[in-house]
Order: sequence, then C-alpha cells, then structure tokens
Amino acid sequence: MAGKEPEIITDKNQMRKWSRAMRSQGKTIGLVPTMGYLHEGHISLIKEAHKRTNLIVVSVYVNPGQFSPTEDLSTYPSDFHGDIQKLMAVPGGVDVVFHPHNLYDYAEGKPTGINNNGSNCENSGVGEPERKGVVSCVEERGLGHETWVRVERLEKGMCGKSRPVFFRGVATVVTKLFNIVEPDVAMFGKKDYQQWRIIQRMVRDLDFSIEVIGSDIVRDGDGLAMSSRNVHLSLEQREKALSINRSLSGAKSAAENGQVNCRELRNLVIQAVNSAGGRIDYAEIVDQETLEAVEEIQSPVVFCIAAWFGKVRLIDNLEINISK
Ligand code: PAF
Repeated sequence: MAGKEPEIITDKNQMRKWSRAMRSQGKTIGLVPTMGYLHEGHISLIKEAHKRTNLIVVSVYVNPGQFSPTEDLSTYPSDFHGDIQKLMAVPGGVDVVFHPHNLYDYAEGKPTGINNNGSNCENSGVGEPERKGVVSCVEERGLGHETWVRVERLEKGMCGKSRPVFFRGVATVVTKLFNIVEPDVAMFGKKDYQQWRIIQRMVRDLDFSIEVIGSDIVRDGDGLAMSSRNVHLSLEQREKALSINRSLSGAKSAAENGQVNCRELRNLVIQAVNSAGGRIDYAEIVDQETLEAVEEIQSPVVFCIAAWFGKVRLIDNLEINISK
C-alpha cells in the first residue's frame, strides 16, 4: 500500500537547511544511511528509527570512497525508483530521501564526470596500477579529496584486511552525512558488525552528539542474511551460501553446550563453508567490543565470517553471549 511520498533532496546545503529548520521547531531526526537497493533489513532500521525520532531521513548514496578500484562499485545494484516505492510502503513513511550526486565534488557547478554510482571508476585510467587496491575510487580519479577519518585499531582486522580502503571510506562518508543531516540518532545494521562498532567508536572519540543504534540482522526465510549483494547470487550459489548461517548456528549451539575452544569452533564453520563450495575470506571469533580475536570463549563474543560464492562476497555474524 503506497503511503506518504518522501521529499527527495539532492543538494547538501538544502539538506542541512531542512534539518536545521526542523530542529528549530523542536523535532528530532533519525538518519538511516544506505547505499540503496533497499531490502527488509533497511526497512527494519527505518521502523526502529521511528520508535526514537519524530522525523526520518534515509540517505541513498553509493559511496565511491569505500570501494577500491578492484572492487564491485560498478556492479553495485541500484533501483532508485523501486527504493522510493518501498519507502512509501513503510508504516509512518520517510520524510526525506537524501540522494546526493557526488559527495566528493567540491567544484561548485563544475561537474567532475562522476555519476552517482561512480561506475566509471574501473575505466578511469587515472590511478597508478601498482597502487590499485590501496586507493579508493575517489583518489583514483584525482578529485583532490584528501581528508579521511580512520578508526585505527578497530578497522585493522577482518573486513579491513581484505578491503584496505573500506572502513576509512565508510567512516569518512558517515562523518559527511552526520555533518550534513545533523541527526539525533543514526541507525546501522549489525550484519556489518565491524562497521557498526567502528561508527560507535568514531562518534565517541570525535564527540559527535549522535546516538548510534545497532539493529539486529534481518534474514530471509531460509536464514540468509539480507544484503543488496544477494541479487547477484545464482539459485545454486544461494543454496550453497546457506552453509554460512547454518554453520554459524551450529557453532553457537556447540559453544552453548560447552565447546569454548575457538579453533574447534572456527574449524566447524570453515569446513562447512568450504565443502559447500564457498571460499572463506575470514572466519573469526572476536570480543564484541574490542573485536580482538579470542582463543577461548569466556565473555560475550561475535563469530564473524566473510566468504565468496562465485564473484559474490557475503558477510554474516552471530553473537554468542555465554560467559564463564
Ligand atoms: O552499510 C552501508 O550501506 C554503507 O557502508 C554506509 C553505512 C551507507 C556508508 O556508505
């Protein structure tokens, strides 16, 4: 059922003006940052935001700053029209969709040739080939942006190892969004557990006056964690990818039944995913706060995994809340 149509704002100054006008009327603002191609996971973040603030802003922006030239920026799915339809169906609706063209374009009125999903990154020919993989699509195109926010220790492990520019790109664009939208509350999905913890730490360390909420993972009926990238899985790959959630649940039950040795638990998951035909990027059991790897479960941990099925890299995790 179609409901309220959100206002679409593309200009950052107009976005800030809207927020300030609303705040001067005493309204509170919740921000749900997204890269579009919305699914039930995003919708659940919006519903959670509704419980906390008067107004909701959803940002839809595929951030080239968090992709390296070898990653999947150009194939990242998008369907802006479909996203708006989905947002209109959310109970209570959404007040604004912030959909900027390019958050790294500082040349007033002079287009840089980068479209919204940055799809020309891989073909730009600007970057030095040997540096590919450690620069982002923003630097590769020589845009002159040189300020990055880094959460130095938390960004090092797990996704940070295989995606070296990812977290500084996320922290930077989220900082930009916070400065533009000036929300009271910001929502993040716990599927991106490391990202959520990094944003929490950044907000604490840099004194942002924003409450960061982590919201539970939303899964499809078969248990696969919802992700915009799932659309790239063939039916067969999708079936194989269920080994992730199944083996994580198996490891959690084993832990609850007394198996607290992390090497054994990791082996359970690695073997299950490998034999389903997946390729493990990492499978780590880490402390929920510090994200440091643990050898034996003695306090709340989270089992985080990233694995490739064909050309699709999926991440998932499960919190294990036993303490010795
Ligand atoms: O989780 C995402 O979709 C993105 O990393 C985010 C937080 C919107 C920043 O681009």
